[in-house]
Amino acid sequence: MTDTEAQGTVSIGVNMRSSKRSAVDKSLQEDDFLISEAQRVLSANRQEGISQWEGKQFSFVCPSLSTYPFQWFWDSAFHTIALLHLNQELAKQELRCMLQAARPDGFIPHIVLWQQQHQRAAAAEFKITMAHPYFTATTQPPVIARAIERVFEKTGDLVWLNDVLEPTVRFFDWLHANRDPDGDFLLAIIQPDESGLDVSSKFDGALGIDYRHPNTVYDTWLSAMDRLFTIYRDYRTDVGRLLRLDAFNWEDVLFNSIYADGLQSLARLCRVAQCSEAKAAEFELRSARVTEALLSKCWDQESGAFWDLNGSDERPQQTLTSSCLFPLILKDLDTNIVHKIMNRHLLNESEFWLPFPIPSVAGNEPSFDPGFETKAIFRGPSWVNMNWYLYWGLRQHGYEDIASELAHRTFEMIKRGGMRECFNPYTAEGYGAIDFGWTALVIDLLVAERGSV
Ligand code: GLC
Repeated sequence: MTDTEAQGTVSIGVNMRSSKRSAVDKSLQEDDFLISEAQRVLSANRQEGISQWEGKQFSFVCPSLSTYPFQWFWDSAFHTIALLHLNQELAKQELRCMLQAARPDGFIPHIVLWQQQHQRAAAAEFKITMAHPYFTATTQPPVIARAIERVFEKTGDLVWLNDVLEPTVRFFDWLHANRDPDGDFLLAIIQPDESGLDVSSKFDGALGIDYRHPNTVYDTWLSAMDRLFTIYRDYRTDVGRLLRLDAFNWEDVLFNSIYADGLQSLARLCRVAQCSEAKAAEFELRSARVTEALLSKCWDQESGAFWDLNGSDERPQQTLTSSCLFPLILKDLDTNIVHKIMNRHLLNESEFWLPFPIPSVAGNEPSFDPGFETKAIFRGPSWVNMNWYLYWGLRQHGYEDIASELAHRTFEMIKRGGMRECFNPYTAEGYGAIDFGWTALVIDLLVAERGSV
């Protein structure tokens, strides 16, 4: 993004006459620093060109130049929301680019490797299976519906909405048709990385990972993925068969919460776009069914947490991670359940309410790795995308003060740790990829805290 392109739509100054001016000025300067850092990363990580894949043009923000040079599905949805405050055209472009990879049957891949020159290195470095030389055979949480709704709310661009809505509706229908073999409305993922939380310790039991040996965690995960790929090798094109193999058939709370939330966004969007009222009603009903299934199958009243379900016999996986709290993003979640999750877990200072919340694994879980000792992601450090979703969830449920506190601790975390992939929940030290794209969601939190989203 050039300076002219980045016509900032974020308003930076305020009028102030009280003696609090200098404290406020300082905090505004710090906020401006965060905004300019986010803007710098979104701009530096832009990838543009013409792909050898059918001459398609690409222009998108990659998650990190040094670690992740391609286009990732849920990252792009987060980038869109951050870009919206800087340059609306680039926000719209981000999803247009992603959706060029949508398949005729509705599937959308989790990585699109637009730039042929990096593909060989990627195949060696990432534990992925390709469906095509340019995209993977797996997907990621459908954050896209929420991102489209945010763009439309801000721009009112109906032409763009109609363009992006059609493939997104097809994708949600693809998920329903292909990822719910037992018909209980909860979608199943076929690999841990489809959750977006690749090496989360919630998968340890299923993958044979022993957290007590931090040095072996990542290699054991890689071997478990290889085993899975071998089992899947002859069946990749038959998704139904993959789940029937029951090698990894996982009803993931985070994925399903994002799906139920996305269905609500789509229902609202269908009512303003060229889409039928019947389709809107269908999405609304489906969202309610997913929420009911989360309650009837995943909610554990005694523990006050939602557990993922593993295998066709739906064994609850009782590792307390931030995904166990994720139904908080659903606006129709029962108030008693919201209070229970909040008091028992989210605000619990030995679990999730650490100095720099919200850790990806509860502080009192044996597998908790706050200092990134395992060099494996989603095993303890805090992540800005999780904080962002939960921030909006808390606000919806009337916890504005807690949401605000979460936002301010997130600002401080990034000031200390930088634009990193994840952060130590005690010290805010940054870990993983540098100049990481979705950490730019901080802009949306800043703007929300100023009351101007
Ligand atoms: C890691 C994360 C995944 C993310 C990708 C690119 O694989 O687990 O969620 O999409 O990096 O940032």
